[in-house]
Amino acid sequence: VTGVSPGSALPPVRHVAVCGDGQLGRAVAERLARRPDIVVHGPAARAAAEPLLRSGADLVLVATTTRLADVADDVRTAVESGSNVIVSAEESAYPWAVDEAAAREIDESARARGVTVLGGGVNPGLIFDALVLTLLGTTVEPTTLTVTRTVDISRFGPAVLRRLGVGVSPADFRAGVSAGSILGHAGFPQSMAIVADALGVPIDRVDREIAPLVADRPVPLPQLPVDAGASAGVRQTYVAFVAGEPWFTAVFTGHVDLAAAGLVARDEIAVRGPGTTLDCVLSPGIDAQRGSAAMVVNSVDRVIAAEPGWRTVAELPPAHVRLDPAAAGRRATARRAS
Ligand SMILES: NC(=O)c1ccc[n+]([C@@H]2O[C@H](COP(=O)([O-])OP(=O)(O)OC[C@H]3O[C@@H](n4cnc5c(N)ncnc54)[C@H](OP(=O)(O)O)[C@@H]3O)[C@@H](O)[C@H]2O)c1
Repeated sequence: VTGVSPGSALPPVRHVAVCGDGQLGRAVAERLARRPDIVVHGPAARAAAEPLLRSGADLVLVATTTRLADVADDVRTAVESGSNVIVSAEESAYPWAVDEAAAREIDESARARGVTVLGGGVNPGLIFDALVLTLLGTTVEPTTLTVTRTVDISRFGPAVLRRLGVGVSPADFRAGVSAGSILGHAGFPQSMAIVADALGVPIDRVDREIAPLVADRPVPLPQLPVDAGASAGVRQTYVAFVAGEPWFTAVFTGHVDLAAAGLVARDEIAVRGPGTTLDCVLSPGIDAQRGSAAMVVNSVDRVIAAEPGWRTVAELPPAHVRLDPAAAGRRATARRAS
């Protein structure tokens, strides 16, 4: 389903199929549909996803859920149908850390078919990995990294909020974490692995702490009301150790009512090393929904252009908006064509 705009100065028309009719899928489909060089198919809900996965579109977005195990078949199907794939599942940002065999098999399949797979959005995909690596371009011997993100999760859908552990008592939160039904926000070990792999640093282990942030008054969220005494958010701390020492600390705080909890949305990357004291602050922090949708939209071209295989954000150029798709990246496109 590829084509060329007849007689226009536009680049080739790209067909993008969107699987997942949730917040991300809808936002990406709506934004991509504004581009004159892209034809959008979907967003498709569960029952309608299969034909799009098998469509052979230039690129398939899988924006459904979080775990690699739950998206691997869809990614495999899209790749085997000859499509490049962006997958928003947090665990897919560095799939080798989750299921080495599945990651290797899909990577080989993608290489054989000349297509690229990328897992990512904003987190993982930017704040805890790509942006960290960009900042590390200014250092020579970084020794520790600390990334802290505080984010408003009040507009997340109910399925994502439940997975984060919102709306339950502290005891049910702990039970859900033990049972694996409450994940908190996923993807931190993947971001750390992306950075470690890019630097050539071997991680010994990653420790995790996850705790509910309990509401002292009800929060009347339309999609998931939170009672007083129930969890209104989550704080997660991950520490990756190298040679027995803490190397990369990631702290994520998500809350449905930041102001009531005395919190402010903010992203902060701190790098320390001999002669390096670097603190990069994004204030008020990157909006989880708008930022993620934009990252996916702005990754379509870089994924289609990338080397085949399952890639990480460390292997791709930065994502950026294309204000004029006909003019953007013309020099690189011409070079590839020659
Ligand atoms: N890396 C990042 O920065 C980033 C950013 C944004 C989102 N994400 C992740 O991407 C996923 C989607 O986010 P979202 O906000 O769009 O979630 P959402 O609003 O809950 O939407 C997910 C949609 O996918 C559908 N779905 C689930 N499994 C499916 C399947 N096997 N086939 C087809 N459709 C399926 C759901 O349908 P049902 O209602 O029928 O289940 C729902 O419509 C979440 O896991 C989220 O955590 C990652």
